[in-house]
Amino acid sequence: MNKELNLAFNILNNVYFNGAYASIELNKNFSDSINFNLVTKIVYGVMDQDVKLEYFISQFVKKQPKKQVKLILKIGAYIKLELNSIPNFAYVFELVEIAKHSKLKPYVSFINATLKKISVSNFVYPNKFDKFKYYSVTYSKPIWFVKLLLNNFDESFVENYLSYNLSTKTHVRINTQKTTISNFLSTLQTLKIDFTPSVFTDAVWVDYSKLVREKSLNGCYTPQGIPSMIVSKNCGGKNILDSCSAPGGKAVYVATLNPKSSVIACDVYAHRVKLIEEYASNMGVKNIKTMEHDATLFNPEFENKFDCVILDVPCSGLGVINKKPDILINNELKFDSLPTLQLQILNNNAKYVKKGGFIIYSTCTILPQENEDVVNKFLKLNKNFKIEPVNTFNVNALDNFGLKTFYPHISQTEGFFIGKLVRYE
Ligand SMILES: C[S@@+](CC[C@H](N)C(=O)[O-])C[C@H]1O[C@@H](n2cnc3c(N)ncnc32)[C@H](O)[C@@H]1O
Repeated sequence: MNKELNLAFNILNNVYFNGAYASIELNKNFSDSINFNLVTKIVYGVMDQDVKLEYFISQFVKKQPKKQVKLILKIGAYIKLELNSIPNFAYVFELVEIAKHSKLKPYVSFINATLKKISVSNFVYPNKFDKFKYYSVTYSKPIWFVKLLLNNFDESFVENYLSYNLSTKTHVRINTQKTTISNFLSTLQTLKIDFTPSVFTDAVWVDYSKLVREKSLNGCYTPQGIPSMIVSKNCGGKNILDSCSAPGGKAVYVATLNPKSSVIACDVYAHRVKLIEEYASNMGVKNIKTMEHDATLFNPEFENKFDCVILDVPCSGLGVINKKPDILINNELKFDSLPTLQLQILNNNAKYVKKGGFIIYSTCTILPQENEDVVNKFLKLNKNFKIEPVNTFNVNALDNFGLKTFYPHISQTEGFFIGKLVRYE
């Protein structure tokens, strides 16, 4: 277990203090000579339970320990609370050994004494009287996030939202440009990669840590969430523009579904435009052209040209935190300026839509300020557009005059918003 704990500590250290991404660090350090499932579980578990672990640890320390010391304590507290199979003496001993052989040597006796206390203590939840703290600790989300939810939704909705656990499997789309659905599924069976069906025939829920190591399947699939696929399935027409396109998930699927269309995929950052190009080439899609362009600036060449404009705008990303706990661990997210940017992008891109054409506006957040509010402001300013209901393909979503919001506990997907705005004049 020493190697596993050491690796988990190093990866978490990079994620917490050096801005690394957990998934990338895990892939980089993969080894089948150790129990890699345990490493993965600890890395994601500690990040996911961060707030709860902080609260637990605070009961055993008088003042804030050095940050790496706290990380070792968090790993110990996580094992104590979630991994019953590892005996107390074993993880306390191994974590103290890691400290002894690192820069944390001067803190070894503190770490040893605190871990011993943690290992024999039970977790006590805060009183529900302080509801912000109660929800924050119970569901291990930062207080600012809980406050934000309680300011926008009623309490029982927030509790259902926070308590829902999404599948641990990853939703991947099968790339029918490079394989057939039946070939892909039989290969998964042959390789003994665990999967379950999706609501869509060209997608599956799969054990991604195994899939990603099968280099022979490279290009035959792509991780893509259900709402993201729904965005692309709602698009169509001869000329399609995706104005905030990188890394290209939706544009590439639209191009796949509409092989006779021409898709223009833009992003404001040159390095991200490259990502679209690489992705489209890896997926074997040819009907996409890319362009570096700022979606807030008017491009006269695009005026009245498109049947469909996809606006998957920059957003707070709060709908995907269950899958990416790294989003919440470091800072309070600041997104006050996003609705203004989102409205600016919508207003500008409306000029590119042909009469009879439409915009698909989407975000991966559930905050009304970035969703309905932006759409309603847009409709007030653009009287020639109206809402048309988004087709959710039988996936449950909350409907607001045709605008759809996906919530984990209602839709069994990440949180997401989609609106369809048709230019009728
Ligand atoms: C939510 S992501 C798009 C994801 C993409 N649609 C997909 O499915 O893979 C938003 C993108 O908008 C880009 N972006 C941010 N500000 C922009 C702007 N002013 N103009 C164009 N793109 C912008 C970001 O670089 C980012 O790639």
